[in-house]
Amino acid sequence: MEKLLEKIHKDRLPKHVAVIMDGNGRWARKKGLLRINGHKNGVKAVRETVETSAKIGIKHLTLYAFSTENWRRPKEEVDALMTLLITTLKKEVKTLSSNQIRLNAIGDIDSLPEKARAELAEVMELTSSNERMTVHLALSYSSRWEIVEATRKLLEKVESGALKSKDLTEKDFESALSTAGIPDPELLIRTSGEHRISNYLLWQIAYTELYFTDVLWPDFREKDLIEALLDFQGRERRFGKTSDQIKEVDA
Ligand code: FPP
Repeated sequence: MEKLLEKIHKDRLPKHVAVIMDGNGRWARKKGLLRINGHKNGVKAVRETVETSAKIGIKHLTLYAFSTENWRRPKEEVDALMTLLITTLKKEVKTLSSNQIRLNAIGDIDSLPEKARAELAEVMELTSSNERMTVHLALSYSSRWEIVEATRKLLEKVESGALKSKDLTEKDFESALSTAGIPDPELLIRTSGEHRISNYLLWQIAYTELYFTDVLWPDFREKDLIEALLDFQGRERRFGKTSDQIKEVDA
């Protein structure tokens, strides 16, 4: 593992990695277990991904833990996921603190059960001054919801006279999103062999490198994250420029 780690260029790390943690259900089915066992083992992958990201020096990690669409799952599964969120937060708060990791949540947090909201608020408060890395949990999150919410905030500003519609900029829009102040993800990882974005960070991933792996989320380990980072570092990011222009800047 150390050999693989050494291949990473510390000066070319993505500042922000976003993850769609997919395949918990299939992992459980393959093993003849209930879906919730897939989610429970998914937490192990969350822990290892957070630890490895902090160790490597990534500043922001955003995990898609529960989408707006996930409310449509059977009630028992939704309840089990909420319970898992609460127990995980309770269990991990000390480790987050001792590793200088801040926890943040994005999404329609008001729609979560009271107990989950209270636990989240507590962990966010306790870790608020940590600066090594921030883990953003996307909970009851969907990008279209976020975009509509941002539009609502901007319209209110226009109605109150604080903003003129003709002056609206991309910056105004960015600062109305739940990711205001967070750099856009440079790398998005999706596990389980699916090649979809699933209503995740649509505005923010305009220039993001996409990485898909067949590994099911509960099996995702340090080695898999490092492989994704190495793949990212092997790519040329042009942001609309030509390859020659990019090489001139690098030279
Ligand atoms: C997708 O797998 C995963 C989820 C909907 C939830 C992700 C949750 C965790 C990893 C555990 C909880 C996280 C925290 C931070 C406490 P799926 O169920 O869609 O899998 P499938 O596509 O194989 O059915």
